[in-house]
Amino acid sequence: MNPLDHVAIIMDGNGRWGLKHKNSRNAGHKEGLSTVEVVIKESIKCKVKFLTLFAFSTENWKRPKNEINYLFNLLENFLVRKIDQLHKQNIKLKIIGEKKFSKNLNSLLNLAEKKTAKNKKIQLNLALNYGSKLELVNAFKQLKKNNKKINEQNIEKYLYTKDIPNPDLLIRTGNTKRLSNFLLWQASYSEIIFVKKLWPDFNNNDYKNIIKKYQNTKRNYGAI
Ligand code: FPP
Repeated sequence: MNPLDHVAIIMDGNGRWGLKHKNSRNAGHKEGLSTVEVVIKESIKCKVKFLTLFAFSTENWKRPKNEINYLFNLLENFLVRKIDQLHKQNIKLKIIGEKKFSKNLNSLLNLAEKKTAKNKKIQLNLALNYGSKLELVNAFKQLKKNNKKINEQNIEKYLYTKDIPNPDLLIRTGNTKRLSNFLLWQASYSEIIFVKKLWPDFNNNDYKNIIKKYQNTKRNYGAI
């Protein structure tokens, strides 16, 4: 059975779900947050050590202002309401991406990271204002600035994910088969599962079945 240390998820389909059920894309984001909680719980049960959720990409700034504001309000409320609970559950929160948000959100995120920094049960990485290409460009800039050799180990030292193992499993919901600038370096050998369901419809059983399937996959890493 394959060990499962790190699961990364592209939570796609909120907008379509919201339009279909409530005539509002934002309603889909709200509903998607419930799935986030389901997946965190199940990840802990399955002893996953790192869970990375793609919550906002560097490209998502192209969306209408009202949707962007709604998403960040949702995140702020989530942090205010849930941070103590996450802390009690021994969950470590880490932001990957460029933390360039409102003063209030930046300080909430810093506070949440600081408060949970020593927690050990699971590390929840929230990819926010995250883009894989930007991450790599920044890493190369740092290598150059610090006069470092360009090799795989050094590049990895300058990624947001420097202390995080590569994802074993990458899941994308929403019936779309692409990586959308998410963990392009880190997912080189991840098992990738595309799910037809929209993120708010994704449930515990879907997740458990994917994990079971993953555990029985033969991983070759280029060998035979
Ligand atoms: C992609 O679906 C989803 C997002 C850009 C946002 C994800 C946010 C959440 C699940 C809720 C907030 C999360 C946290 C952790 C507080 P889409 O809007 O691109 O869907 P579409 O393809 O149907 O348009």
